Amino acid sequence: MKIFLIGYMGCGKSTKAKQLAHRLDCPVIDLDAEIVNKSGKTIAEFFEAYGESGFRTYESEMLKTFDYPSTSVVATGGGLPCFFDNMEWMNLNGQTVYLQMEPAALVSRLHNRQKRPLIKDLDDEQLLEFIKVKLKERDPFYTKAKLIVDAFDLDAEKLEEAISRNS
Ligand code: S3P
Repeated sequence: MKIFLIGYMGCGKSTKAKQLAHRLDCPVIDLDAEIVNKSGKTIAEFFEAYGESGFRTYESEMLKTFDYPSTSVVATGGGLPCFFDNMEWMNLNGQTVYLQMEPAALVSRLHNRQKRPLIKDLDDEQLLEFIKVKLKERDPFYTKAKLIVDAFDLDAEKLEEAISRNS
């Protein structure tokens, strides 16, 4: 089974994906890292060179063409479920889990904003407003996930249990 972790920047997708893969003894795939590997550009450089729409096309192709091991945990970029038919594709091809978190908690976890082009110039107050607006747009996509978990204080054991109950 492929498990796709989705959710807003800062909700802990990459960390939880690693911990979960460790518990399940299977490979972890971080799609942002795969984009960097394949394109030879950081995410910031990619946005600079091709704009957000170029990035969205590339990340969607990466999602759909990656050669996933039959059992794997996949950390997705925060915007990926909200473009093209990516959410439907993930629901058809695996178990989707939305790591949900309140905007204020996300702000306090997003320290390293420089590498994230959409929020790189925002202070805490601006970021809080930005996230509130973005979550309104994105929640209709994120909430199509087969499983929604509260990501605040979530540990990998609880996450594994929730997924196995839901599978
Ligand atoms: C984005 C999230 C980032 C990365 C890009 C755009 C977004 O991934 O894909 O900066 O639109 O929310 P993370 O959620 O892993 O930070």
